[in-house]
Amino acid sequence: MNDIDRACAAFRTLLTEQQARVAGMTAERVDYTKKATVTIGLVDGDGIVPIIMEQAVRVLEALLADEIARGSIALRRICGLTIENRLACNQAVPDDVLDEILACDVLLNGQTTTPMGGGLESANVKLRRALDLYANVRPVTIPEQGIDWTFFRENTEGAYTLGSCGFETEDGISVDFTITTTDGTQRIAELAYDFARKNHKTRVSIVTKANIIKATDGKFLKLCQAVGEKYPEITTDDWYIDIMTAKLVDKKRRTDFQVFVLPNLYGDIITDEAAEFQGGVGTAGSANTGSQYAMFEAVHGTAPRLIADGEGDYANPASILKAAELLLRLVHGEENGEKDRIMIEPELVEG
Ligand code: IPM
Ligand code: MG
Repeated sequence: MNDIDRACAAFRTLLTEQQARVAGMTAERVDYTKKATVTIGLVDGDGIVPIIMEQAVRVLEALLADEIARGSIALRRICGLTIENRLACNQAVPDDVLDEILACDVLLNGQTTTPMGGGLESANVKLRRALDLYANVRPVTIPEQGIDWTFFRENTEGAYTLGSCGFETEDGISVDFTITTTDGTQRIAELAYDFARKNHKTRVSIVTKANIIKATDGKFLKLCQAVGEKYPEITTDDWYIDIMTAKLVDKKRRTDFQVFVLPNLYGDIITDEAAEFQGGVGTAGSANTGSQYAMFEAVHGTAPRLIADGEGDYANPASILKAAELLLRLVHGEENGEKDRIMIEPELVEG
């Protein structure tokens, strides 16, 4: 078989898998307040994660003491997601660890090392896909600057889903794939607009590069606009990712933005930029939610340099504590409530 035939065969497999994924999608979401017991999995990772996770566990055990005693919440530590174990099993998420994870309801997930280029896929991306965690919700608030943003990053499609399915021909042509589906876009758009409605937001901004990336981004934009029409009280606007990246640093304009909905890769990039205004990625939390599971995590990585310099004990747990706060809100059914706010000393946030 020549290169082109092999590429076509790989593309066929990929499309067949995506059709099956779409067929299994659902937007109907579980209500955690109705469950007799909610099991929270605490998933350890690499680098600084065991150090900051320890602090998160301490806080959760204290805040949830009554619920744990009553049996309405159970905390469960999951330890097998280290890079050593993943390499030994040659699996992004070893099967036995995935089984432990699937037996939980929600996860507080530590970041894991991802080898660059070929080799293992990111454990985190694999979990988002395996648990169908289609919404990556990232709030950034700086009240004194009038910033109150919530990003709805599509989390199971775009360039990410197929990022490890690319193809390289022997004469040096590399191709990666990106995907947008109708159902996948509608469910993230509905979530963003529902959030806006429930929280009395007046504006939703759709961010793409639809003028250039026509099939996938063009579809994302059109479908989000169509969902927006069902929310007449909310103003919809749309932006290209490049100018939006610039507008976020425009102090006169940026306070106008409220809710953003955007494909995976743009959401990844722009939420780091947004978190930087708030004090850095170490200060932001991230909720990955789907219809059956939810996973909460820090936005930063494993900080291998801190560990290499012997300074792991100085790792800032602010981001994982923010993630724990988002987890508590979901479990308690108050996605934007004040009751579960974990106050973090400003000095800690500023580092
Ligand atoms: C994030 C991170 C992840 C991503 C990595 C750790 C796979 O950057 O949560 O934004 O790229 O989505
Ligand atoms: Mg990122």
